Amino acid sequence: MKNKKITRKITQGMYVLTTQGGGCVVDAVSQVSAGDNPLIAVAVMKKNYTNELMHKSNTFALSVLSKDVNPEIIKTFGLNSMRDINKFDHIKTTEVEGINVIDDSLGYMICEKVDTIENETHTLFIGKLIEADVYKEDEAMSYGYYQDHKDELLKVTTEKGRTAWVCMACGYVYYGDELPENFKCPICGVSADMFERK
Ligand SMILES: Cc1cc2nc3c(=O)[nH]c(=O)nc-3n(C[C@H](O)[C@H](O)[C@H](O)COP(=O)(O)O)c2cc1C
Repeated sequence: MKNKKITRKITQGMYVLTTQGGGCVVDAVSQVSAGDNPLIAVAVMKKNYTNELMHKSNTFALSVLSKDVNPEIIKTFGLNSMRDINKFDHIKTTEVEGINVIDDSLGYMICEKVDTIENETHTLFIGKLIEADVYKEDEAMSYGYYQDHKDELLKVTTEKGRTAWVCMACGYVYYGDELPENFKCPICGVSADMFERK
């Protein structure tokens, strides 16, 4: 492959995917059909706790994040696992069709799961839109905007005097002189070439 970075030019948004019992930040979302109840696909990494929950649940929600979203929402849902913290203790949500949607968002889509496609690392969950609302008309945050502004959004700080490797995709920090062989980010799954030494 000459330069995989061209895939970053695919326009993606920033969402919080929620389902019964948890959720996480996702950018891999796509509307794949039109009509009154369009199909919406979301790709969820198999190692994420949300993947387990999505397999058990028949419905899921996508809350659309704005450019001015409180970055705590991205940190809580995107850089932590429900295995370790209760994300809903930190962030305000409202229950719609039995699922918590994010209050500080542009609105939500509730989908009924209709299909799943498995690959090695991800599951593609396909849902039919059954309920939706718009909270406000502000500008949505794109994944590209997040990538360009994540340092200020996440304010990644590293401990003085220790060699740190920062994931340029999500902000996760690994401490150690070198990254282990075949290292992959435990949060977002990207490979070692996406890490910068600080
Ligand atoms: C900007 C950003 C985009 C992300 N996009 C995705 C995605 O599309 N699919 C996915 O499975 N995880 C994605 N993640 C990673 C999950 O949000 C993250 O691994 C989360 O901690 C998983 O939490 P869980 O274990 O509670 O499911 C993204 C994270 C960030 C910060």
